[in-house]
Amino acid sequence: MASLSPLIDQKRRAAEAAVAEIEPGMLVGLGTGSTAAFAIAALGRRVAGGLAVRAVATSLATEAAAVAAGIAMLDFADVAAVDLVIDGADEVDPALRAIKGAGGALLREKIVAESAGRMLCIIDDSKRVSQLGRGPLPVEVLPFARRFVTDRLAALGCEPVLRVRAGAPVLSDQGNLLIDCRFGPIDAPAALADQLAALPGVMGHGLFLREIDFLFCGGELRQERDR
Ligand code: 5RP
Repeated sequence: MASLSPLIDQKRRAAEAAVAEIEPGMLVGLGTGSTAAFAIAALGRRVAGGLAVRAVATSLATEAAAVAAGIAMLDFADVAAVDLVIDGADEVDPALRAIKGAGGALLREKIVAESAGRMLCIIDDSKRVSQLGRGPLPVEVLPFARRFVTDRLAALGCEPVLRVRAGAPVLSDQGNLLIDCRFGPIDAPAALADQLAALPGVMGHGLFLREIDFLFCGGELRQERDR
């Protein structure tokens, strides 16, 4: 295999370490993004080697990649709970609180994470932050509520920017808009999460404050949440 850049290699090693936790018969949630793609590839290899598992996807892109990797997929609409979910993140603080959603899959990712017995988060070193808010916080918004929610988000103290690609709004797999909110350092993430959840028209937000149980950063660093 051609040599990978150090951060990309960390993603691969984190993903492979997490996939090693999967046991026969498990129902596994598969995350979205470039790090999760390494996990899908690693799980595909284990399945080809005889591991019997089933999985659900957190996005249409992940569904397609998992099917191509030979993984037996279920429709999450028919599933109440998964054994574990493996997913990436954009920022993770020392208390294993995270920001997710740069890939636009935050809503399905949060639902599957909530259903999971354990969430294994896989990252490279660049994702570790001392405080959340280094980058934007993605918020998924019903198109009908775009202007109303944008104004309310600004009133919460951020700079809300509609995510656009090639001149058109980016739509989530549910057909919703994504608004990236630059808050700067987030001093009270739980209070912010409550405020966002209370806004009608906000379908989801990228603060994952208690979902992550275990962090894999590269192949070496492992951290378990104190419960
Ligand atoms: C998608 C996500 C991703 O997990 C997050 O953006 C990390 O992506 P990558 O592994 O490509 O850096 O939350 O909605």
